Amino acid sequence: MKIKFLNLGKQPITNSFLKNVDKKTINKEFFYNLSVGFDKKSYLVSLMKHVDPKKQFTDQYAHRASQSRTMRKSFKEIASKLKKRFKPRKCLEIGSNDGVFIKNFKKNQVVAVEPCTNLAKITQAAGYKTYGKFWNEKIALKIKKLHGQFDLIFSANTISHIPNLEEVFKSVSFDLKEKGVFVFEDPYIGSVILNNSYDQFYDEHVHLFSLISISKIISKSNLKVFDVEITKNHGGSIRFYVSRVDSNFKETKRLKLLKFKEIKQGLHKFKTYKKFSSRVSKSKKDLVELLKTLKIKNKKIISYGATYKSATIFNYCDIGTDLIDYVVDTTTNKQGKFTPGKHIPILSPEIGFDNSVDYAFLGAWNFKKEIKDKEKDFLKRGGKFIVHVPKVKII
Ligand code: TMP
Repeated sequence: MKIKFLNLGKQPITNSFLKNVDKKTINKEFFYNLSVGFDKKSYLVSLMKHVDPKKQFTDQYAHRASQSRTMRKSFKEIASKLKKRFKPRKCLEIGSNDGVFIKNFKKNQVVAVEPCTNLAKITQAAGYKTYGKFWNEKIALKIKKLHGQFDLIFSANTISHIPNLEEVFKSVSFDLKEKGVFVFEDPYIGSVILNNSYDQFYDEHVHLFSLISISKIISKSNLKVFDVEITKNHGGSIRFYVSRVDSNFKETKRLKLLKFKEIKQGLHKFKTYKKFSSRVSKSKKDLVELLKTLKIKNKKIISYGATYKSATIFNYCDIGTDLIDYVVDTTTNKQGKFTPGKHIPILSPEIGFDNSVDYAFLGAWNFKKEIKDKEKDFLKRGGKFIVHVPKVKII
């Protein structure tokens, strides 16, 4: 049973950028209560109540993984690493977005599943067999019938979006060869606790995984985690390497070490999450105070990156156009729209990131290095970034 430890209040769907902010559109905007709980039995951290996936993963899905240099590089590296280590002949990707991972494979080697049909169309048009469907038993059985089983099943930032994990893993076991490997990665709860990055909680992140939770849950589908990596992706992610329970893959040293670290960090204890929740309240207070102080001094503050994460922050902290003039983002289908819930206008960096900006809140803090490298001129002329992780500060 889940016990609540965090309440982030009334929140919109993070992907629902508004085309305009007239009364009719605003009245129709969907909100839900974002609260998070811990299951003492499975150690899993999940939203208390999830949103209907059909409302989230539509044919209007905005996020394009290929648009970040950091993500293109990261997916190229992981594809090459997996090819070298497992030499897969046939691969399946669950949640292929715009093809940022599969484009590192030959077209006849890969099958992809992606429920956002605007994205599925992109990889389909590029010649990759893509099913515009949600991952579940039905599609897994269909794929098995039409394509057989796979040496490698890969998924990034997708499994944590799916409410029914038992069905996810059971479906994976249908499509995985006897000696096959399932590799998946998602944001890591250990990093969230460490960095106080509460903005990793939003409608799409139904769960935030730890090794101890996934090891327990996956065993119900006769699968086992045999290796694990902590990566810098999305501000701290965990990559699981999974095989059938009776495979020859042995638990690695780093897996044993991480299990030990998680117990030391207290990821199996409710108390750890309760303490985190108090730090989140403080972070809110500090951020609002800082922005208000700068505003009193007549400083112009914008936000850099119309991220899903920043939707959680702005709605939880009640930050609107009174504090943040606008948001800049390179994603063309976010530009000209308004952020969900707080309705802050989104501009292209070419238009919005000019000499008038004094401070830029890093909504895309997980791309801090890429952005700082790119925006050297802003820093040179005295512009400053604001971050909220691990503590609210000006950098
Ligand atoms: P994500 O954290 O969900 O991947 O979203 C990152 C967002 O930040 C995405 O909308 C693109 C935007 N962004 C910029 O606008 N400029 C940049 O330099 C980078 C790296 C990201």
